[in-house]
Amino acid sequence: MTDFNYNCIKQGLNREDILSRMHDTLSDFRYTHCLRVEKTSRGLAAEYDGDVDRAGLAGLLHDYAKEHDDQEFIDAIKKYHLDPELLNYNNAIWHGIVGAEIIKDELGIYDEDVLNAIRRHTVGAANMTQVDKCVFVGDFIEPKRDFPGIEQARLYSEKSLDSAVAYELKHSVQHLVDKNRTIYPATFVSYNYWIAKGEL
Ligand SMILES: [Fe+2]
Ligand SMILES: [Fe+2]
Repeated sequence: MTDFNYNCIKQGLNREDILSRMHDTLSDFRYTHCLRVEKTSRGLAAEYDGDVDRAGLAGLLHDYAKEHDDQEFIDAIKKYHLDPELLNYNNAIWHGIVGAEIIKDELGIYDEDVLNAIRRHTVGAANMTQVDKCVFVGDFIEPKRDFPGIEQARLYSEKSLDSAVAYELKHSVQHLVDKNRTIYPATFVSYNYWIAKGEL
């Protein structure tokens, strides 16, 4: 995994520097998950003719902000005038949508294709790009994931990215309902869009 870099996305962006920063700020559990999502996202992009480097960098950074303090997210929502509705939710939603702004601030990465994939990895979106889909699905099926339905998710990912996205949204909505958790409205928009495509 050391024979590539992300200079094509930002001049001077050294993967090793990002890794050492993430290693210092994330738990081992989260850090190794991010490495697996990077690899899985790159693999999906290669298989489905996507942008391998953008999918890989977004996969690596998708949970970059997940262990930041709640107050940092609240401050960023206000500072960047993001949807105030976000204040009614929590880290599970913030680390993607708001995490992208923190990544801009802390790493100076402004590539919108990479940032959008990070923003969308928690709730999806209608009309996701190929890079978005690779990261969304890569996060769900990375090799250490183990939950009821994972085999089906992996099978769908071999059939088509769209079917895997639809399955993941269905699985996530079901899970949140089962746990009596509130659901961020954009999740329903994503769910409706991808289920209506009829890939499942
Ligand atoms: Fe995440
Ligand atoms: Fe993740």
